[in-house]
Amino acid sequence: MKLSLPKRKSKQGEPAPAEGDAVAAEPELSRSERRARKTAAAKHHSAEGAKDVAGWVDSRTNATGIYTALLSRHVPKGTNWFYTLGSATMFIFAMQAITGVFLAMYYVPSTTQAYASITHLTNDVWMGEFVRGMHKWGASLMIILIFLHMGRTFFFGAYKYPRELNWVIGVVLLVLTTVMGLTGYLLPFDQRSLWATVVANNITASGPVVGPYLADFLRAGPEVGATTLSRFYALHMMLIPGLIGALIGAHLFLVVKLGTTAPPWVRGTRPKGALDEQSVPAGVPSSDDAEVPVAASAAATDADPAATESAAEPPADAPADADEPDGDGDGQRPAAEPDEGEASA
Ligand code: HEM
Repeated sequence: MKLSLPKRKSKQGEPAPAEGDAVAAEPELSRSERRARKTAAAKHHSAEGAKDVAGWVDSRTNATGIYTALLSRHVPKGTNWFYTLGSATMFIFAMQAITGVFLAMYYVPSTTQAYASITHLTNDVWMGEFVRGMHKWGASLMIILIFLHMGRTFFFGAYKYPRELNWVIGVVLLVLTTVMGLTGYLLPFDQRSLWATVVANNITASGPVVGPYLADFLRAGPEVGATTLSRFYALHMMLIPGLIGALIGAHLFLVVKLGTTAPPWVRGTRPKGALDEQSVPAGVPSSDDAEVPVAASAAATDADPAATESAAEPPADAPADADEPDGDGDGQRPAAEPDEGEASA
């Protein structure tokens, strides 16, 4: 699209446009019109420039496909603020990772220097106290948010088929998040963190079967001391964040693949245009009728010989993903096209 720029006023010393000239024939524009045209042209050019860069990156990464899959999804009607708790947890995890990197620039993982390095960071380093505070309060906030998110998925029934695996991944994430809290608490190596770790280690040792072995592994020696600090540091800085990052990836993959569960109060309503249960041909698999009643399929076969084929495989006009779990977890077969029953994320 070509946008014409506003006609330039002739300045002093410049030759005035000749009479009969096409430009001269244009009506004189008001100041606001000229400004509007200029803004439109500037917007157009910046958008085109951004498109070129985005297109270049996209043709090499398929970033738009990933973006569309992650963010441009259909979500069930009735989705509300409770559905942001998972993303809020993820945001806090990202904040913890970022602030943790800055803390690691000053922290020394040694029993003799750990406390001094943290005191130096808090008292002498620019913004050190603020970043440390963010990391400390962020840890508590993440635990609170993760529990709230877990509560949301529990009370909305999002742990049921086909999302059980995502629930299990969530439980592992919860455990790993608490381990982050435990391992991080020892790092300042002051009296409070030392004795809190001794207590936590004794509690772990009292656990059934694996408890004593786990406590031995974490303590890394007969007493909580230098080896424990090194071990907790490695777990806190590398292993656990890596695992959490990978599991969040798997968790989100399943969220995108399986769709979002509708709120319980929306579930009963049938999406507009959804197939009537009676008119669904026998043999089309569905999550709520695990077995096709023999009588139903036999009756269909009697009535129409072509139905023998339809009992074995879905008819050509059935939705392509008829055997896939439904997108909104309402146990209903999804309508071929999203309609008013869904809103776009
Ligand atoms: C680091 C911790 C976690 C992060 C970053 C995280 C992130 C997310 C996000 C972004 C979503 C999609 C949006 C939403 O429904 O809120 C989600 C969905 C889900 N999460 Fe988590 N989550 C975490 C922990 C957990 C825990 C502890 C559980 C349960 C034990 C859990 C179970 C689920 C389930 C079942 C869904 C699917 C919800 C649905 O289909 O409606 N998550 N999670």
